[in-house]
Amino acid sequence: MENYLVEIPLSNRARREMKREKSPLSNERLDGMFGAFFADKHDFDTNPNGFMNFCIAENTLCYDLLRGKLECDPNIKQSLTQYSEFGGINTFRQAIANLLEHKIFRCESGDVDPKQIIVGSGCTSLLEALFYGLCDSGDSIIIPSPMYPSFVHDARMRANVKIEPASMTIDDGLGNIRFALRMDKFDEAWKKVEAEGGKVKAVLLCNPNNPTGQLFSSDELLELIEWCRVRQIHLISDEIYALSTFSTSNHFVSAYNVVNGRMGDNIHIISGFSKDFCLNGYRAGYIYSQNNNLVNYIKQISPFFTCSNAVQSILTNILTDKPFLSSFIHSNQARLKSAYTKTICYLKEAGIPYVESQGGMFLLLDMRCCMAEITFEEEMRVWDALYDAKVLVNPGWTFHNDHSWLEIQKDVDKRGILTFMAFTSIYDNKANVLEAFIQSLQVKPKENSRSLILTNNTVAEKSSSKKEVAPDYLIIFDDLSNELKDPSITKLMKIQRHFSTKIIISTQSWTDSSSHIRKEIYSFSTKEKYHFLYTIRNGDYRKDFNLQLEIKI
Ligand SMILES: Cc1ncc(COP(=O)(O)O)c(C=O)c1O
Repeated sequence: MENYLVEIPLSNRARREMKREKSPLSNERLDGMFGAFFADKHDFDTNPNGFMNFCIAENTLCYDLLRGKLECDPNIKQSLTQYSEFGGINTFRQAIANLLEHKIFRCESGDVDPKQIIVGSGCTSLLEALFYGLCDSGDSIIIPSPMYPSFVHDARMRANVKIEPASMTIDDGLGNIRFALRMDKFDEAWKKVEAEGGKVKAVLLCNPNNPTGQLFSSDELLELIEWCRVRQIHLISDEIYALSTFSTSNHFVSAYNVVNGRMGDNIHIISGFSKDFCLNGYRAGYIYSQNNNLVNYIKQISPFFTCSNAVQSILTNILTDKPFLSSFIHSNQARLKSAYTKTICYLKEAGIPYVESQGGMFLLLDMRCCMAEITFEEEMRVWDALYDAKVLVNPGWTFHNDHSWLEIQKDVDKRGILTFMAFTSIYDNKANVLEAFIQSLQVKPKENSRSLILTNNTVAEKSSSKKEVAPDYLIIFDDLSNELKDPSITKLMKIQRHFSTKIIISTQSWTDSSSHIRKEIYSFSTKEKYHFLYTIRNGDYRKDFNLQLEIKI
């Protein structure tokens, strides 16, 4: 046996998958994180100086409530030691149907057919089953971002499904950020995939959302469902945090309710017991779909990810004890709310801004107050400092949100621009924040004014002084759609000459812009004698023939 150390390569497929997989945590420093955590896990009694892990969504608030149910299963019987039905034991699937009817969808008993439920060893493997069932290798799915980082791994690792983010971020330019489903961003993502020769097969929505803690409204969901139906693509609604909500103003609405239970062939709900039942390690989840072809396919492949009979039996016992179930859900939500309240009190005291959360176990913190400059390197420096203090968090870049703002901010800092404002909407809860900014601008104007720059940087700009000087204000309107016609933008453009200001307007559609903006483009092109604006139907705009104006149509 001399040659037992000979290196035999893995299959081509395995090597390809390893190469393709670039986990958001494959960064060198993040790589060792989980190993360090598992070797030195924080415990209030036994290891108070160990690692505190805030980057995995685990709810450890309710073990005392569950313990009795987990330690003793009255339904233990010999048949549990044998193989059971494909796709889940019938009594368990019936118990899940009742959970959906009474606690999540709040519909009539009998509305959910247990035959349309498939059980598996957690949502991770079930998501992969959905990717296999709905997409071919190389297809894409659109996911609103910021997103749960592991979606990328789950889709790409074996099924080779690509992810296209659709940003949900709405930045009022004054440092206030909120999130909403933005159809313009879905359109953009769709176009991008098509332009690259790919095919979008589904949208994957996480509601309540990981990582924003956001609950989506019925109207938003309906708009997205219609968007998917028009394009004949699927909507996977990941509702794994459906019962982990604590907002008093907003309530969770399932995709099921938005369509009055008629999910048809293209809406599929996925959920599980890791989060709402604090049982990440038990590995149990389910898909509910009315698409019988899909259900049959996933049933066929379900032996690859069976949930063990012992776990199915314990969970059936929890779900069928109705008084226990109601009281558990209630207590869990109360504890989540109290933990959230304590955490935000602490953040307020420490002066760390955060985005309000309505469900799940998430808080997005704005750590720019701890960063010397706005760069990814600096973000990792803060991450390192927290790691050294044995506090594990997810750095923002892992959520696949729009990186370009950070890059712009980096450049803005380098050039010494005093005020940089980026608007993806000029409204914050119906208040026009641009108008408020214009009011604040009514101060002494600068002499060294600059002319307006339209569209993107390929348009040369003339400064009234020869020397290149950075403007005091850089204002970007990014894809405001109809808001571009708002009178406050015209007002800003009229007064901007009096200030050292640069305005960049990016739009998908020429017709979104007001006539004032169009006139500006025209006068920019024709300012000097014998120059002209040249337009072609295909959306090519040129100053004369030789200088292309990149106005995206
Ligand atoms: C949105 C979302 N979906 C799916 C999962 C995976 O869940 P499971 O433990 O059931 O595999 C997680 C885990 O964090 C999650 O946050």
